[in-house]
Amino acid sequence: MAKLVVMDHPLIQHKLTLIRDKQTGSKDFRDLVDEVATLMAFEVTRNLPLAEVEIQTPIARTKTKVITGKKLGVVPVLRAGLGMVDGILKLVPAARVGHVGLYRDPETLQPVEYYCKLPADVEERELIVVDPMLATGGSASAAIQFLKDRGCTQIKLMCLIAAPEGIKKVQDDHDDVDIFVAAVDKKLNEHGYIVPGLGDAGDRLFGTK
Ligand code: PRP
Ligand code: URA
Repeated sequence: MAKLVVMDHPLIQHKLTLIRDKQTGSKDFRDLVDEVATLMAFEVTRNLPLAEVEIQTPIARTKTKVITGKKLGVVPVLRAGLGMVDGILKLVPAARVGHVGLYRDPETLQPVEYYCKLPADVEERELIVVDPMLATGGSASAAIQFLKDRGCTQIKLMCLIAAPEGIKKVQDDHDDVDIFVAAVDKKLNEHGYIVPGLGDAGDRLFGTK
């Protein structure tokens, strides 16, 4: 069974409060999502393998460590996942970015795919799928399945806020995918929005409502 990690670091929790606040405008919302993505990426990358190398400091030769193993890929679920990409790339600038376009049909709440562009060697990479909201879990689960259908085997999911229903859906569909979130909220409302949540992440990021 994969793990569920709820990141309760004070900096993440404080910034998440500001993100949730309806008074926070688009610019601050974007900046805060970017900052939290960086803080979360620190934990999501904790288990990257290290190899020993020998270098010369100005004082002495020494054995020290560098990251090794599979290359990384970041896969935002459009649109709102875009808001988390730069925050991760600050820590892992060499990661490639693949885009999966999905929107949730407002009536059925089912994910509808409309775009996909992935790195050519995507199946050789360790992937972090990013989306601020894990509500019913339909979009995240479909994005992960999409990557698996293209041969990807090492996938993590990173979200800001999850509903219990979304966590269960991803765990049921993909028991090999670790889930990293900043908060698990109470429930979904009758429109499939997370309560208390933060509203519509895409609209708040891009000022479309
Ligand atoms: C939001 C969010 C997720 C999805 C979550 O995207 O960014 O992708 O809903 O809901 P689910 O877990 O029930 O699938 P939305 O469909 O609003 O598209 P947008 O990012 O383009 O605004
Ligand atoms: N998508 C959002 O942007 N917010 C929610 O609460 C649920 C789905």
